[in-house]
Amino acid sequence: MKIRVVVLSILIFLTSCKKLPSNFKLCDHFGPNLNECLTDAVTSAVHQMKNGLPEIDAPPLDPLQISSAAVEKGGLHIHFFDIHVYNITDSLVHHVNATITSSRIHMTMLASAEEILTTMDYNIKGSLLVFTLNGGDKAVIRFKNVTFDLELDGDVVEKNGEQRFRINTFTAKLDPALVTYDMQDIFQGQKELTDVFNRALNENWHVFFYETQPEFEEILSQFLVQYANNVFKYVPIEKPN
Ligand SMILES: *[C@@H]1O[C@H](CO)[C@@H](O)[C@H](O)[C@H]1NC(C)=O
Ligand SMILES: *[C@@H]1O[C@H](CO)[C@@H](O)[C@H](O)[C@H]1NC(C)=O
Ligand SMILES: *[C@@H]1O[C@H](CO)[C@@H](O)[C@H](O)[C@H]1NC(C)=O
Repeated sequence: MKIRVVVLSILIFLTSCKKLPSNFKLCDHFGPNLNECLTDAVTSAVHQMKNGLPEIDAPPLDPLQISSAAVEKGGLHIHFFDIHVYNITDSLVHHVNATITSSRIHMTMLASAEEILTTMDYNIKGSLLVFTLNGGDKAVIRFKNVTFDLELDGDVVEKNGEQRFRINTFTAKLDPALVTYDMQDIFQGQKELTDVFNRALNENWHVFFYETQPEFEEILSQFLVQYANNVFKYVPIEKPN
């Protein structure tokens, strides 16, 4: 019994101790130049998150890891596993437009990245272009010169007498200049056919990209809501002056 009590109090102590590192940039939510401050704060937060922030149990952003994602569309079944997304923390935040009141937060952000590299395992079944597919192995997908249009919306919740923002939606629209695919071994043991498929896919990259874009943006959006809430849990809201 005693041991249990001790363990419990250590856990409570650890939980209540978690906070953002002291060099984490915060903005006066009701101050002037909020958008300029947030542009810097978001840029620096994303860099600080590169290897994760153990202080608040935030996982690394580079590479960002997603265990699995499925896309079902028009007879095409695709399952991705063990997804690693690289280069996110090299993104540039161009501008932030925030509207913050004592009960709501709404932000739009424009960011871009020269390259986002993703690696994963995959299974694909169905028809795409002129191919009938039923296979899978490893894939490398590169998004070049990507623009991100981000929008988040949230309200304010109170816990233990303290107010925090709670993010309800966080959407991301991706606009790449080019996507390249390397779907390895899609026709198992048939290297030439696999090469023909990859060439066709890359020549028509937008067909596959636009086909799967809404599903990918939805997966990204769920990740962003979760990740942002874990950070905002530790961001105090000051009262307006
Ligand atoms: C993206 O990340 C990969 C893996 O870390 C790295 O090799 C590559 O240079 C990065 N690309 C850019 C444009 O920074
Ligand atoms: C910023 O957002 C507000 C409210 O959503 C909008 O009215 C305003 O036009 C936006 N400003 C810019 C510069 O995008
Ligand atoms: C990406 O942008 C750079 C710099 O503007 C440009 O040199 C390059 O050709 C672009 N690449 C693609 C694939 O659009």
